[in-house]
Amino acid sequence: MTKTLKILVVAGDGIGPEVTSEAVLVLASVAEAGGYEFAFRYEPIGGVAIRAQGRPLPETTLKAALDSDAVLLGAVGSNEFNALPPSERPEAGLLKIRAELGGFANLRPSFAWPGLSQNSPLRAEVVEGADILFVRELLGGLYFGEPREWNKQTGAAWNTMRYTRDEVVRVAKVAFELAQKRRKKVTSVDKANVLEVSQLWRATVTEAAKAYPDVALEHQYVDAMAMHIMNQPRNYDVVLTENLFGDILSDEAGVITGSLGMLPSATIGGRVNLYEPVHGSAPDIAGKGIANPLGAILTAAMVLRFSAGLEEEAAAIEAAVKRVVADGYRTADLARGDKTARVLSTGEMGSRVREALSEQLSGRAAAQGV
Ligand code: IPM
Ligand code: MN
Repeated sequence: MTKTLKILVVAGDGIGPEVTSEAVLVLASVAEAGGYEFAFRYEPIGGVAIRAQGRPLPETTLKAALDSDAVLLGAVGSNEFNALPPSERPEAGLLKIRAELGGFANLRPSFAWPGLSQNSPLRAEVVEGADILFVRELLGGLYFGEPREWNKQTGAAWNTMRYTRDEVVRVAKVAFELAQKRRKKVTSVDKANVLEVSQLWRATVTEAAKAYPDVALEHQYVDAMAMHIMNQPRNYDVVLTENLFGDILSDEAGVITGSLGMLPSATIGGRVNLYEPVHGSAPDIAGKGIANPLGAILTAAMVLRFSAGLEEEAAAIEAAVKRVVADGYRTADLARGDKTARVLSTGEMGSRVREALSEQLSGRAAAQGV
């Protein structure tokens, strides 16, 4: 990495700013240790943008995003806007930035963290060793399909789950390519027993699979899959889904760690990659300093992996998080069933990770004789 990496930080609502600032501190320490230049710029999105500028995605934010190398997002959503139609809510800002940046493949890894199995409501022997990578299509389906309307006169409302063959092919390729670097299995999720759009999905994925003979493809109906993930999460490697199914199943997979707060995501394939933790704005705990920053910090690792080519540093962040978790440090959401846990604030957890990270990075330098 030679040039400056321009990162647009859109921290958003609720716990977004608290967890994102920990992610930024982690990135800053990577930059310092490696002599890299990361330039952070901050712009509003979501509810904070509506309050300040009357719209969830101001032009200046969008321009800054398109002018950056990576966009790091915290969370959007605020109860104050619950009465507004979808097109005016904070979430509309997120959907618009996703569409404008153009990333269609949302990667959501979810695995059982060593030492965290007692935090899962599932039995340890069910979750231990689970390692799933969701590839969620992010620009199609019900989220963006037209027509959409709530007709107050007739009392009817509708949305459209729409996909084209090309939209399915491009995201399927991402799933197969990632599976080739993992355990070589793709499970494609649909509702092909009921929906035409799912029949298109299934036929297209089956066709695309022919170019990847080393990868095993299986299809699952989304309802059955919802149960299989709970029963036998270890069975799955890459799970390919359309937009809404992936939204639902990736939250469900949070049960593997027992907290949504551990889950990062990266959206690739467009003009600028977008990075966001899977969790929402969690208004109930916002501002209390108790939110788990690890999902945001792991998201920062994905920034380095997919937008900076800094694989070693990305892995060092992940190793640092593993270390801290293995040492028994917990935020409140991770302390379920663990009476002896050391429960840390958001900021304390962030500092622990940075300490472990500097050990990772200097240990590596020592090993290389630097
Ligand atoms: C997610 C979120 C978003 C989504 C919301 C906030 C629009 O739930 O990233 O999973 O539905 O995609
Ligand atoms: Mn979601």
